[in-house]
Order: sequence, then C-alpha cells, then structure tokens
Amino acid sequence: MVQQLIPARHHDAGTALTDEQLLSLYDPGASPLVRFNFVCSADGAATTSGRSGGLGTPADQRLFALMRRPADVILVGAGTIRAEGYAGELIDAGAQAWRRKRGMPAHPGIAVVSGSLELDPRSAFFAEAPVPVVVFTTAAADPGRRQALERVADVVTAGDEDVDPRQVIARLAERGHRMVHSEGGPSLFAAFQRADAVDSLCLSISPLLAGGAGMRIASGFTSDLQPVELSLLLEEEGALFTEYRRHRPGHAPGSA
Ligand SMILES: NC(=O)c1ccc[n+]([C@@H]2O[C@H](COP(=O)([O-])OP(=O)(O)OC[C@H]3O[C@@H](n4cnc5c(N)ncnc54)[C@H](OP(=O)(O)O)[C@@H]3O)[C@@H](O)[C@H]2O)c1
Repeated sequence: MVQQLIPARHHDAGTALTDEQLLSLYDPGASPLVRFNFVCSADGAATTSGRSGGLGTPADQRLFALMRRPADVILVGAGTIRAEGYAGELIDAGAQAWRRKRGMPAHPGIAVVSGSLELDPRSAFFAEAPVPVVVFTTAAADPGRRQALERVADVVTAGDEDVDPRQVIARLAERGHRMVHSEGGPSLFAAFQRADAVDSLCLSISPLLAGGAGMRIASGFTSDLQPVELSLLLEEEGALFTEYRRHRPGHAPGSA
C-alpha cells in the first residue's frame, strides 16, 4: 500500500492511494516543467548489471508508468536507449484514453539526445515508435549518420559540440511540448543540471544495497550545488518515492 507522508494526509490516512490520487500528487501543474525520474538503491546505485530494471519495486513500476501520462514529451539520453532498449508504445491503452479525455494527443512525444548519433535507424525504437522520434544532436555530428537518421526521425541541431539543454527546451516548446518528462540517464541529467534546467527530480529509493559498481543518477561534472525542496514523499514497503522541486527566485520553471 503506497502511503503519503509529505504533504501530510489528514482525512483518509492509512488507505491505499488510487491512480487518480497519485496522478494528482505528481500533477506537473500548468507552467512549463522539466522533470527527471530515476530509481536508485538505498546506497545510491542507479544501475545493477548495467541497467536500472533490477532496482525498481512494483510501486516504482506503477509510478514510472503513471508519471508518463501527463508528459508532453518523454526525453531520454542515447545511453539509456542503448542500455534499456526502448521501443513501441510507451504508454498503455488506459493511459492513452486518460490523455484523450483531457484533450491531449494519445501519445506523448519521444525525444532522444545524442552527440554521436550512434543509434540504429532500423531499430524498433524508431520503427515501432507511435509518433515520429525527435533526435537532438550537435552541429558536429557525423553527416552520414545524420542523413540515415533523418529518414526515420526529426533530427534537430541543438548545440555546436554538445547538445545544449536550453536549446532542447526551446525547440520542444516550439513543438508545444511544455511538460518535459525525462527518464534519464545520468549523463543527460548532469547536462541539464549544469544548465540549471532541472525543475523537478522524482527519485525512487529502493530498500536494497547494490554495492560499489553501479553508476549514480548523475554523472560528470556539475558546477554548483543547487538547492531543491522536498515536495513529495510516499512510502510502500520500505521504498521511498520523492519529488524534489528546484526553486529559482524570479525564474519561471522550464523557461529557456
Ligand atoms: N536508475 C535509473 O533510473 C536510470 C535511468 C536511466 C538510465 N539508467 C542507466 O544509466 C545507464 C546509461 O547512462 P548514460 O549516462 O550513458 O545515459 P544517458 O544520459 O541516457 O546517455 C548518455 C548519452 O546521451 C547523449 N548525451 C547526453 N547528454 C548529452 C549532451 N549534452 N550532448 C550530447 N550528447 C549527450 C550522449 O549520446 P552519444 O553517446 O550518442 O553521443 C551520451 O553518451 C544505463 O545503464 C541505464 O540503465 C538508470
């Protein structure tokens, strides 16, 4: 049973949270928002045997799916696509109906960030995507790989040597994608942190010790410590589900 700890529940504490209640707790709100969702072990590992799957509890899997529902676009780094094998519809029929009822397209957009463009244009990720995939890359990307991907995806330059998160947010906003839901991974998250472009971090902490070899949820150099506020804390069978919100005085969330 998923329990709500923060914000405190007064009326029906002790009863299980429904999907609608969970969706309301994770409601991104009306302003543009860049949200990252990760799972880690109690000792901070974001991967076990090179993937994140073994770390998630059943409640994490439920929340992972629910959090996709209000997304305008699901944004993922190329490393996560290569490791986790994304393909096909990313939300189920119930979620599609939920979106249609709210006047949203049945499927969220799908976007991937890759400097190398080492992505197979014949892969199921492109072939089975329910909407055309947007690939964010750099001006320095290999022209041959770019040409091959342009046959199956919308390839967008968003930086010279590295993909610039602020350009990604701006290009997505031009497509009407204001709620950017990112499922990582650690390099992409670090790039967005460096650009101070993370508004929300939803982190599941599983009651597991994974040992020393796993990655953290952010990799690479980050310049400053960025204060965040714990806005949500749920618990189920020892697993914690948090949302941390970044507050920047005088700066609208998700704005480029
Ligand atoms: N625990 C979790 O919740 C969770 C979530 C997601 C992923 N993971 C795990 O994380 C691991 C993958 O880590 P990762 O750091 O490689 O994942 P990633 O951030 O998804 O992918 C990194 C790749 O994305 C591209 N990229 C990211 N930022 C870029 C930028 N600013 N400019 C240009 N390209 C950029 C590059 O692609 P190119 O190499 O193509 O240039 C880079 O190599 C996997 O084991 C996966 O299972 C865990």
